[in-house]
Parts: sequence; C-alpha cells; structure tokens
Amino acid sequence: MGYSKIIGTGSYLPEKIVTNRDLESRIETSDEWIVSRTGIEARHVAADGELTSDLALAAAQRAMQAAGVGPAEIDLIIVATTTPDMVFPSTACLLQAKLGVKQGAAFDVQAVCTGFIYALSIADKMVASGSYRCALVVGAEVFSRLLDWNDRRTCVLFGDGAGAVIVKPSEEPGIYSSHLHADGSYSHILRVGGGIAEGRIRGNPYLEMDGQAVFKLAVRVLDECSREALEHNGFTGADVDWLVPHQANLRIINATADKMGIPRERVVTTVARHGNTSAASVPLALDGAVRDGRIQPGQLLMMEGVGGGMTWGSVLLRW
Ligand code: UT7
Repeated sequence: MGYSKIIGTGSYLPEKIVTNRDLESRIETSDEWIVSRTGIEARHVAADGELTSDLALAAAQRAMQAAGVGPAEIDLIIVATTTPDMVFPSTACLLQAKLGVKQGAAFDVQAVCTGFIYALSIADKMVASGSYRCALVVGAEVFSRLLDWNDRRTCVLFGDGAGAVIVKPSEEPGIYSSHLHADGSYSHILRVGGGIAEGRIRGNPYLEMDGQAVFKLAVRVLDECSREALEHNGFTGADVDWLVPHQANLRIINATADKMGIPRERVVTTVARHGNTSAASVPLALDGAVRDGRIQPGQLLMMEGVGGGMTWGSVLLRW
C-alpha cells in the first residue's frame, strides 16, 4: 500500500461577521468574558438561504483550483458535517451535483467537530489502497442554525464556514497515520438531542453543552491522540513544524500545544476570527496557513480534533 497526499486546499467563510460587541447588545455577555474564556472575537454567519452545500461548493472549487483538478477527475467526495442541507440525500451527493461530478462515490461523515479528521482518515485509506484516485474531502457547517441565540453559554462560541482538500495517491508520505477514537458514554455532555419524527421536531433542536466537562475531556484526549500519532511514527513534539488543531477555545489549543512541547508560534489559530466552526475548523485553519505561506513543502503537520460523540482523533502528515 502506498500513501495519500493533500495536493490542494480551499476554504470559504460567509460574508456576514458577528462580533462580540454585536452580541453584547443582544444578550447579557461581554467582549471581555468571551475573549478571556475562549479567545473568540468574531464569527461568520451564513445568510438566510445559504446552505452547507453552498459553503462546501465554494471551498471545494478553491481547493480544486489550487490542486489543478477538474470535476472529471474526482472519484470520491466525503463531506464532514453536522448540519446537512436535509435529512437525505447526503450533502456530499448534493455537492457532487453542484460540482458537475458524475462518477465515483459520495457520502457524509458525522463526527461533529472531529468530522474532518474522520473524513480525511477515511479518504486516506481509500486513496492509499489504490481504490480511488482523487478525493475531495470537505468540512462544512452552518452551526449557527443549531444555536439558541438567547443562550449565552453556547451561542457566543460557534460560527459557520467550510474548508476542503484534494487528496491523491503518493509514493512518499503524505499522510503517515491517523488515529480515531470515540466514547459514546459522553454523548450527553455535548449534543443536539432533537430529531424529526412524524412531521414534528422531537426533543430540543438546540445545542446543549456541559462546557467544563467538554473542556476537561478535550485537553486530555487531544494530548493522548497527538502523542499516539507521534509515538506511532517515531517523532516527538519537537519534530512538528505546525500544529493545526480544532479551533474551539484558545485555552484548549494552548494547553494541548504546551503538553506536546510545541511553541505557540508553531500553532495555527483562527479561533479569534472564526469561532468554533465544528467540522470546518481544521481545513479552514489549514487553508489559511497554506495560502499565507506559513506551511511549506516537506514540513511535518499534526492535525487534531475533538467533538460531540464524544469523538476525537489526529492525523500526522508530511506536507
Ligand atoms: O468542539 C468542542 C466544543 N466545545 C468546547 O470546546 C467547549 C469547551 N468548554 C469551554 O470552552 C468552556 O467551558 C466555556 C468557554 C464554554 C465556558 O468557560 P468556563 O470558564 O468553563 O465558564 P463556566 O461555564 O464555568 O461559567 C462561568 C460563569 C457562569 O456564571 P456563574 O454561574 O459563575 O455566575 C456562567 O453563567 O460565566 C457565565 N457565563 C457567561 N458570562 C458572560 C457563561 N457564558 C457566558 C457568556 N458571557 N457568554
């Protein structure tokens, strides 16, 4: 079995920006509280009628352009999302149609904020095995639509966006390994419990979170799965050129980087401008750092995520 490699990235953020000051005028919160607890200053929010597949389309087109890949080449589309356009068909199938891709497989992955890490890991296995030649992997979310905008404990934290990568076979790494985990016994600490049944919403359609429980678990498991990836491949934190973590909370990101011995200037952070965009956060951060020239060929990258499920995982790769 060979390897797979990311050969192009793209991302998209909706036009509308909601700042902490905007939220101050709507709910009992403050810029000072949000920044000191999370590092978040602003988030993007999709326009009415703008769907996850629209965000995914814009990010995918940019990734395809960067990779020099057209619709005729793509034979695998995986979309990581918690906010699909509809119950079915999958957002990946809707995206396939919007892109004009006619061949191959298309499906969604649901692992909430770890979704992109799960999707990239699946694509890696399918491409490195030689079964597929050109994968489009997308993380896309309109998380703003899962929020109760009167609940200050949750609505200040999240935003909308999309990021995408093109993955092709490679004789050299590429992706060294991925390490995925889940523990469903923690399902209650972060969830949207509602669902559609018999034409009605059953249960709470808004996000509920035990913030402190999620925080503690996140710091522990991100350290574990990053260490696992390093040890598996014989590297240490000192070898990592860039940590590209899930962007939920600057305090979680910094704690994880410190535990791995990765200096802050080697950590890609977008949380201040984007908030937590769930499955979109890692590919959004990746695309930003690729396009501004921080990430360079030959560098070692650690990507990691944690989210509802609870799920978590890491991907270690050579750029
Ligand atoms: O992808 C994974 C998704 N989720 C996460 O990663 C979230 C992980 N958890 C966290 O990031 C943090 O737990 C939060 C940022 C959510 C909360 O920070 P915290 O330091 O754990 O605060 P807390 O929940 O203990 O709340 C402290 C106080 C409370 O007031 P009292 O009870 O002490 O009077 C809250 O009611 O802060 C209050 N509070 C707020 N105040 C102003 C909660 N939200 C707000 C707010 N503005 N937006």
